[in-house]
Amino acid sequence: MEYVKCAEGYPVTDDYRNKLHFSASSGWLNDPNGFSYYSGVYHLFYQHNPHGTAWGPMHWGHAVSRDLIRWRHLPIALAPGEAYDRDGCYSGTAAEHNGKHILMYTGNRRVSHSPSSTRQVQCLAVGDGTHYRKLHGNPVIGSELVPPGSSTSDFRDPKLWREGETWYLLVASRGAGVGGQLLLYKASDLERWQYVGVALHGGGCFGTAWECPDFFSLAGRELLIWSTQNVPENGCAYRNSYSSVYAIGSLNRETARFDGCAPEILDFGPDFYAPQTVRTPDGRQILIAWMQMWERTMPTDELKQGWAGSMTIPRELEILGDALIQRPVRELEAYRRNPRRIEDRISGERSYRGIRGHYLDLEVSFVDIDAAEVGITLKRGQTEKTLLTFVVAGRTLTLDRSRAGHDIRSTVSDAHDVQRYCCDAGLADGRLDLRILLDRSSCEIFADGGRKVLSATLYPAVESDGLTFFARGGSARLRCRAWDLSLPHAE
Ligand code: FRU
Repeated sequence: MEYVKCAEGYPVTDDYRNKLHFSASSGWLNDPNGFSYYSGVYHLFYQHNPHGTAWGPMHWGHAVSRDLIRWRHLPIALAPGEAYDRDGCYSGTAAEHNGKHILMYTGNRRVSHSPSSTRQVQCLAVGDGTHYRKLHGNPVIGSELVPPGSSTSDFRDPKLWREGETWYLLVASRGAGVGGQLLLYKASDLERWQYVGVALHGGGCFGTAWECPDFFSLAGRELLIWSTQNVPENGCAYRNSYSSVYAIGSLNRETARFDGCAPEILDFGPDFYAPQTVRTPDGRQILIAWMQMWERTMPTDELKQGWAGSMTIPRELEILGDALIQRPVRELEAYRRNPRRIEDRISGERSYRGIRGHYLDLEVSFVDIDAAEVGITLKRGQTEKTLLTFVVAGRTLTLDRSRAGHDIRSTVSDAHDVQRYCCDAGLADGRLDLRILLDRSSCEIFADGGRKVLSATLYPAVESDGLTFFARGGSARLRCRAWDLSLPHAE
């Protein structure tokens, strides 16, 4: 089958386009898919509607990169069309087999007029890094391999990996009485799968359905990552109806059972979902996620700018104790320009000449904090601003984007506050360390060396590029290193 060549054909405006974060050249983007290293380059596929800026018939868009920052668009890799995937090629993973690039994805098809009545099956495509062909034998896991009591309509997002001669697959699902669950399959031949069992489930109190599993080992531990729907809000955690979590533990390949620590939130911000990881040739585990959220308005769609959706900056993962640490991929440092440095003791609000802009990489420390609050006002204009405030007494870091710019609203009635997000932060010795990445319409805040992360989309006017630091109710020592992030040109 000859797929749509490129998402072209309607005008695109780049007013809010991020420069260092991946986005589709036009059309809609959601989950990263098939994040892999194959044939000397990184491949990033993504859920993509090339025909519009809202979610629609899902294709797999495709791009490649040598350094995870500068991407080159390739033709769409998968398009819906077969009986088993006619209503969408949903999320999945990629692997290498016999020199070929294998894509495993979910075929989605409606089985009645109700949009919620679907049948989801697992399918394979094989390619050379540019062109992909769906297998004649698809689906390779149909509804008959779904265990009793598990949904055949919420059965998606296969995570595929190989150990020796055995292939493993985790599929996200919904089970009667337990809500979200992950099912394990195994095979010695990619076309013949066997159901092993339930790896993990939510016990009825941790999400109505789960999506997008990932699984890998890191520093001798095993990590499971997945996305949950409708976990009740709890302090700073689960402020979104859709959250992504990780658990460190171990997966028993015979019984399927995953035993691990309690799930932890991966990112406390408003815009982070469906993460996937890739192992680099030098052994690093890199995570990327969709930097947007379901059930929200999307300014670039509302403003008819011809594109919608962006990925996070790829992040290096590390385990320290029982905590997962995330840091922007080190390749980003090659895009830093014009270094500046501040050392000051501040009280009240301060700006510094030359520290402004929409594309910034900042390393900020507040030390010897003797103030009630310290923080930074980001993307500041006449009336617009995004506030990052650390309240020392509660050790809470809050991001408030309620006056950031073009508004973002919830599209569901029982909405959470979609403007204010928080996490615990700050080290015991009266110090707060932050790494902040600003792109045209996003900010990512890595607190305490990457122990806590907040990612958010922001749509300020181009003039709103100011930045100030503050200490209220006392003073604090400010240390800041700042760089402009240069704009990569197409490869
Ligand atoms: C997660 C998700 C996946 C699904 C895809 C559809 O964001 O809902 O479960 O495969 O998006 O686009």
